Amino acid sequence: MAVLGIESSAHTFGVGIVDRGRILANEKSMYRITNKGMIPAEVAEFHIANATDVVERALDASGLRIDGITGIGYTRGPGLGPCLQVGQLTAKSLALRLDVPIVPVNHGLAHVEITKHIARLKDPLALYVSGGNSQILKFDRKSHRYSVLGETFDIGIGNMLDAFGRNLGLRHAWGSEIEKLARCGKYIPLPYTVKGMDFAFAGLLTRASGLVGREKKEDLCFSVQETSFAMLCEAVERALLLSSSTELCACGGVAQNSRLAEMLHMVAEEHGIRFARAPNEYNSDNGAMIALVAEKMLAKGMDMPVGRCDFEQRYRIDEAVFHG
Ligand code: FE2
Repeated sequence: MAVLGIESSAHTFGVGIVDRGRILANEKSMYRITNKGMIPAEVAEFHIANATDVVERALDASGLRIDGITGIGYTRGPGLGPCLQVGQLTAKSLALRLDVPIVPVNHGLAHVEITKHIARLKDPLALYVSGGNSQILKFDRKSHRYSVLGETFDIGIGNMLDAFGRNLGLRHAWGSEIEKLARCGKYIPLPYTVKGMDFAFAGLLTRASGLVGREKKEDLCFSVQETSFAMLCEAVERALLLSSSTELCACGGVAQNSRLAEMLHMVAEEHGIRFARAPNEYNSDNGAMIALVAEKMLAKGMDMPVGRCDFEQRYRIDEAVFHG
């Protein structure tokens, strides 16, 4: 059984191929983001122009022919509507052409599941941190859904870092530029907002942006990282105690940040538990994570009639039933 997964929720069009949990291919094309950000219709046009090429590259990498594909998965959401639609339509046309089952996949769930798979974790507490999402998650075996133990009240941490990076006059990729500058910065107090296991970043962004030009870039980058990551660590620590988890993982685009990983590692060490994250290739958006989850869902008979395969911009992880 070789399952092909398509990811297109934002600026990446990714195609992965998985066979019994083995990742045979993970190809992608990424829309180049400028300081204007992303215009969804333009990104969707980019995905349309690149979809066939990425599918072909994934097939080449896997060593399979198109008729060797026995199932299809695609990102149902959350994400940008026009971008999700390109992946959905590509997946549906492939499923119809090949006459194979198809299944819609939740994007956040796929980030957590590929991290669990690669790091060989059983039942971790997961910190999912990306542009649009910041959530603390734990799988609930009774409902077969992820429970959201904590999340951002306003913007995702990735979007906060990107907006701050733009305000500071940095170029894309803002997150990694901030990480570099932060290495030689000093701490300036900034707004710190944690309520139980939830947190908020808008106040921090407003204050830090207001200090641009008055404080050193390095100090601002260091302080934005230290403050926002400490907020996440405090909330994670509370969730660890509440859930009695013995494993902790980070996933999503911001999980590539090595300072965040270092701080989470310290939290895990203090609690005598294991911390893990996947290699960067699988923390940025990718098709392999969709293929991996789709293969598991198809094995449990969770395929969907093609006519019911829709996309949903606000598809929350706690709505997604998963039998792994
Ligand atoms: Fe993502």
